[in-house]
Amino acid sequence: MDILVIGSGGREHAIAWALSRSSQAGVIYVAPGNAGTSLSGFQNIPIHAEDIPALLQFAQSRRVGLTVVGPEVPLSTGIVDRFQAMGLHIFGPCQAAAQLESSKAFAKEFMIQHGIPTAHYARFDAYPPAVAWVRAIGKPVVVKADGLAAGKGVVLCDSVAEAETALRACLLEGIFGEAGRTVVVEERLSGPELSVLAFSDGHSILVMPNARDHKRVFDGDAGPNTGGMGAFAPVPEIADDLIDQIRRTVLQPAIDGMARRGSPYIGVLYAGLMLTASGPKTLEFNCRFGDPETQAILPLLKSDMLDIIQSCTEGRLESIMPDTRWHSGACATVVLASGGYPGNYAKGLPIDGLDRAAAHPDVFVFHAGTSMSEDRVVTAGGRVLTVSALGTDLPTALQRAYLAASEIHFEGMHYRKDIGRTSL
Ligand code: AMP
Ligand code: GLY
Repeated sequence: MDILVIGSGGREHAIAWALSRSSQAGVIYVAPGNAGTSLSGFQNIPIHAEDIPALLQFAQSRRVGLTVVGPEVPLSTGIVDRFQAMGLHIFGPCQAAAQLESSKAFAKEFMIQHGIPTAHYARFDAYPPAVAWVRAIGKPVVVKADGLAAGKGVVLCDSVAEAETALRACLLEGIFGEAGRTVVVEERLSGPELSVLAFSDGHSILVMPNARDHKRVFDGDAGPNTGGMGAFAPVPEIADDLIDQIRRTVLQPAIDGMARRGSPYIGVLYAGLMLTASGPKTLEFNCRFGDPETQAILPLLKSDMLDIIQSCTEGRLESIMPDTRWHSGACATVVLASGGYPGNYAKGLPIDGLDRAAAHPDVFVFHAGTSMSEDRVVTAGGRVLTVSALGTDLPTALQRAYLAASEIHFEGMHYRKDIGRTSL
């Protein structure tokens, strides 16, 4: 079966790689892909991940048997509905179900309605009542733009003054445009974070090994937020019964709630959680695989991911669950970033040592922001590469990932040296 993977990051390279291990996989197209996806034997297609008409036409003309969507934007604009209307098989939630990520106000209301634990909140379209609410509760808050803002729409506020600034920027100055016309303001929680992802066929869920990502750019969680500087899975101190609690109180109620609304959630559901003193609280839902969590989770999957995805799109996930196997060890992922990222950075810099790194046992170099220039792999984004390694335990996986990462070089390259350290 020929497969189309939509997207161009490390997540999509890992998804294409996982699918390629299936004996049923034929040609794997990646739109638009990166240097790594083409060097791995997949066929890059120069179509932007958000160009739904062109993607649809491509899938039809090449008789693609399954399309797997990486990023949230095409899901939020209805790629699944459009493909299905033309009789094409595609894996991801429909537009209505993808609102769990594309509208934070929708997601909060949904969580309250379905008893899913989350921070106390209110939604506002106007500045004066929002400020009045923040003043009245008198505790630190978080201001979130309702719509998709490429991970930049969340402001953690230490004081009322900071909250006022964030609300003014969103509601009066319109810095997020349409996405910030409505805001969610919620109580600020504290505790370690955890990402729990699950496959769903609209009714049942298959929970993946849990993961933790590192969003700040520098060691010790210093510096600005990024798209993610590394991840590891599973988090050693997380007990099975906590995951079971999250499955019962967060993931399954979300799937059940969507089914009851008449928009069954078929795809990967990602719960971003904070483990607070009063139990796990849901910070956000994402309607897709996480990046870079995927690069740490999929190497742990021993079973055929194409089988799992097909069982989801065919509504029979439960039938394959008893046979699904994961490695018992750990996987660690280190992101190699461009100098200056998450601020401005240069592109087009040659990358050395990729083959040496990939030759290490149990190491997977998934490309993120790379392209080809005259037969050389060069940098093409802020997050350039993700180096993942399997190990019998987290220390071994981290050691292998860092050893492989040390083989790679490009001008200005930087990476966090403390991925997973708080769990060692
Ligand atoms: P979100 O996109 O909603 O997950 O927010 C991005 C990040 O902001 C999360 O990963 C947390 O680190 C932080 N965050 C979001 N909501 C809260 C909250 N209610 N309390 C504390 N931190 C939060
Ligand atoms: N790692 C966070 C995300 O994928 O949204």
